[in-house]
Amino acid sequence: MKKFAVIGNPISHSLSPSIHGIFAETLGLDIQYDAVEVEIQDFEEKLNSLFSQGYIGLNVTLPLKEKAFSVAKKHTETCSAARSANTLWKEGGVLCADSTDGAGLMEDLISKDLKVKGSNIVVLGAGGSSKAILPSLLKAEPKEVIIVNRTISKAKNLAEIYNNDKVKVSHGSLIDEVPFEIDGLINTTSAGLLGQELIYPKNLFHFNPWSYDLSYGEKTTEFNELAIKNNISRVHDGLGMLFRQAALSLKIWTGLKPNAEEAMKIFRI
Ligand code: ATR
Repeated sequence: MKKFAVIGNPISHSLSPSIHGIFAETLGLDIQYDAVEVEIQDFEEKLNSLFSQGYIGLNVTLPLKEKAFSVAKKHTETCSAARSANTLWKEGGVLCADSTDGAGLMEDLISKDLKVKGSNIVVLGAGGSSKAILPSLLKAEPKEVIIVNRTISKAKNLAEIYNNDKVKVSHGSLIDEVPFEIDGLINTTSAGLLGQELIYPKNLFHFNPWSYDLSYGEKTTEFNELAIKNNISRVHDGLGMLFRQAALSLKIWTGLKPNAEEAMKIFRI
């Protein structure tokens, strides 16, 4: 039996054990997938202990993704660009890291026919999740991206890192209007999860952009409620991204990529 786990804090509500359970069933794999809660100061010790107990792959979730990046010795290109890791494994005793969040998001956008290439995209939020998805988003060659955040300095910092010859990346506040016709909208803020009101640019919903919230839940997310209220016709939550980043992790660990779409159908039954 192959052993895996997700590490985070809090972790009890994580869907990863159920998702990987479905993947294992559909692939005919014999796995154990645990949820492990750990304090940030004990993270490295816990990692070593899990690997020495025979775990072969670990997922890392909030608030440990940046810490996971810093303790890993070898990183994929995407992981280095994101400076965040959600997937860990060992190769010849060396701790390796990847970040599958961005690729998971991009796969989900494609599956939902939400166009990025040549589009004007607004990314709301400049925290860990925003950082994790930006490299993959930019690789898909949008026309222009504006990172809009409550703390403007954080958006400015990210925009400076990611602005490049192919894609203009700029920053903005939650109060100023977005200076282009918006084609797509990605919410990475935790305002809804925290039960807080999100102030947003006045013209955010003016052009009926597609709207993708990285959050998910049994109920419609706060941000999607807002989008629906503003008559947005293409509104999606982050459940698809969650399944797809998980499928990409399992592929890294086992070489087998589960069908995330099928797994989602089983999950919803
Ligand atoms: P995560 O890893 O989920 O991205 P994070 O790094 O704490 O979590 O980032 C949370 C993001 O949500 C940040 O962009 C944060 O804005 P600040 O950088 O100004 O803190 C944003 N956020 C959280 N609560 C918010 C609120 N009530 N209104 C607007 N933005 C909010």
